[in-house]
Amino acid sequence: MRLRTVIVVGATSGIGRAVVEQLASEGVRVGIAGRREERLIELQQRIGTEHISYRVMDVTDASATEALDELIAEVGAPDALLFASGIGKQNPTLDEDMELRTVETNCMGMVRIVDHFINYVKRTPAYDKHNKAHIAVITSVAGTTGIGQAPAYSATKSMQTTYLIALAQHARMQHIPITVGDIRPGFVATEILNPEKRYPMLMTAQRAANYVVDSLRYHRRITIFDWRYKLLVGFWRLIPRALWERLTFVKN
Ligand SMILES: NC(=O)c1ccc[n+]([C@@H]2O[C@H](COP(=O)([O-])OP(=O)(O)OC[C@H]3O[C@@H](n4cnc5c(N)ncnc54)[C@H](OP(=O)(O)O)[C@@H]3O)[C@@H](O)[C@H]2O)c1
Repeated sequence: MRLRTVIVVGATSGIGRAVVEQLASEGVRVGIAGRREERLIELQQRIGTEHISYRVMDVTDASATEALDELIAEVGAPDALLFASGIGKQNPTLDEDMELRTVETNCMGMVRIVDHFINYVKRTPAYDKHNKAHIAVITSVAGTTGIGQAPAYSATKSMQTTYLIALAQHARMQHIPITVGDIRPGFVATEILNPEKRYPMLMTAQRAANYVVDSLRYHRRITIFDWRYKLLVGFWRLIPRALWERLTFVKN
């Protein structure tokens, strides 16, 4: 499917930013958002105002939906919206503030943006059963189960995945012209990772962006990249909960 216009929320770094660069290089018009305005401006100036519009947006703030409306008004009805915003750290001391901020961003922030976009699609005549919008969220393979080193991160990723299942069913029940995508990366070299640590099966943000853009283009329901992570998740799911909870040597 040809993408003409896409919104990327969480475009200032990492996977979101690499997706913006790839889309723009293919001639797609991209509406970008995030909190760090200097990075949004830098992207717009480097790629060009004909390809990039931006709004400063904090998804944990209620004003985020106004910023999204303005962005859509500027770029036109998008073919797809990618929710790439997210935070998450290992939290071995169970710092409460960090846990709560993770929930606010990954759960409440996602629900705010995703629901607002679906409600926009419902009332917009540009979409119908022959021309469906697509909404995708970058979740994680970390949502496969609870991870003791990162309780809020793993649980919020699990919530995102469950929410997307609900929305996919909801869209069908309510005949909303939208498809739903769940994009689950493994380790990708971005600012979210600890630069002092080494990560197995690490992928570049550019390579991850290839998978993401394909999933947007083909309205993929679930994308796990790459095959090694598909295998890993398959094995992971086979571990009984009682055994998993005893695996205290697991440090992610
Ligand atoms: N890298 C990995 O290994 C990996 C693996 C699996 C899943 N993921 C997921 O991929 C997604 C993207 O992460 P990344 O790896 O690309 O990390 P990243 O480079 O840190 O990018 C995170 C993005 O989220 C935005 N963001 C954070 N808080 C926000 C807020 N309150 N409002 C609006 N935007 C906010 C950031 O923009 P501002 O700071 O400018 O707001 C930034 O653009 C996340 O959901 C992450 O959980 C990453």
